[in-house]
Amino acid sequence: MKFLTTETLTELEIINNALKNEGLEEISSESGIKKLGEGAWHFAYLIDKEQLVLRIPKKIAYDKKVVFNREEFIADYAATKAFYKQANRAKKGICPEHFEYFVNEELTYTIESYVGKSIGLGDQTTTQSKRYGTELGEFFLALENLDPPYKGLGYLKIGEKGEIKGELEMDLREFILEETKEYQDELDVLLSSPYEFNKKKVIKTAKDLISVRSIDREKIILTNQDTSPENIIFSKNGARIIDPYPLLYTGTSLAANYIFNYQTFFYTVHNTLRYRKSNYYLHIHQLRANAEGFIEGYTNGSKQKSKDLNVEVFLKLVTMAYTHYQLLNKESLSREQIIRYGTKEQLKERLEIYLKELEKYPLD
Ligand SMILES: Nc1ncnc2c1ncn2[C@@H]1O[C@H](COP(=O)(O)OP(=O)(O)O)[C@@H](O)[C@H]1O
Ligand SMILES: [Mg+2]
Repeated sequence: MKFLTTETLTELEIINNALKNEGLEEISSESGIKKLGEGAWHFAYLIDKEQLVLRIPKKIAYDKKVVFNREEFIADYAATKAFYKQANRAKKGICPEHFEYFVNEELTYTIESYVGKSIGLGDQTTTQSKRYGTELGEFFLALENLDPPYKGLGYLKIGEKGEIKGELEMDLREFILEETKEYQDELDVLLSSPYEFNKKKVIKTAKDLISVRSIDREKIILTNQDTSPENIIFSKNGARIIDPYPLLYTGTSLAANYIFNYQTFFYTVHNTLRYRKSNYYLHIHQLRANAEGFIEGYTNGSKQKSKDLNVEVFLKLVTMAYTHYQLLNKESLSREQIIRYGTKEQLKERLEIYLKELEKYPLD
């Protein structure tokens, strides 16, 4: 086990150091360790007696040594704490009620409420998956009723006075207009690429959709970008969200991110080192049922919301296709890019899927 610490410690020792620091009962022997799992960044353990989860950062992520940066860890964990709090205001119990962290070169960890065991996608019926999606869609809609607890826009960082804020200081309207222009530029690059697809049709779709993109109907909220199935606990009592990537952004954009990921992205990255374990290709029906439910829950019968969402999902598709095209044109890929996106061959195959999706993208 490789933990991010300056000390030489066994798994049991580092867990017990954290428990001691929290004033909790230590584990007496290795057989008492209950490993829940690991993501790209943390090892997670169940502290049975208190029903808590202890997460300890890994020394290596994406095949690279993690650099200990106090500010970054604090910003990251404080953002998680803030999101959990906001999320539980929007829907009580959707996130862990309790979350604390400790950041130090010798010992860094987070400790939070255990929210249960996840029913894997493969063990869900599509009706169940759709139900989870609906709950999550309703939750994303409820988040839009809450004012953001911080100033600014974008990912969260620590300001000069130690305060948390969004990385950008920009008027939202101005930001959306600029971002729309960037999406248009990305699409133009794809349209002038040698890849063959029905460019005429895509130009028309883009024109119709981008011209009605939601601007004045948007406001900044605290929301979450990382809702991959590993970070959703599909519990028998409903969906729970853990390990968020919080940011200050518009509701529609992040709802679209969710839908794009569940409808298209996850199953297309089934062959990457990052997602290989999850077998998303086998669970395409569950993923899509989840997205379908999400749309129902999020739009809640509103025609306007449904149109706004459709435009925004199109933009996610454009930007993902563009990212793939850019990566393909690079001389070589970094190790992290290969782990996340796969080989050039896989990138090309995936880009072709996205271009087909663009071609058949519906106007509403
Ligand atoms: N609060 C929690 N309740 C239940 N399970 C959890 C909790 N936190 C983490 N886990 C489990 O541990 C795994 C890894 O934790 P996670 O926080 O997602 O790590 P990483 O930051 O590396 O992605 C999760 O996918 C989940 O299965
Ligand atoms: Mg995770």
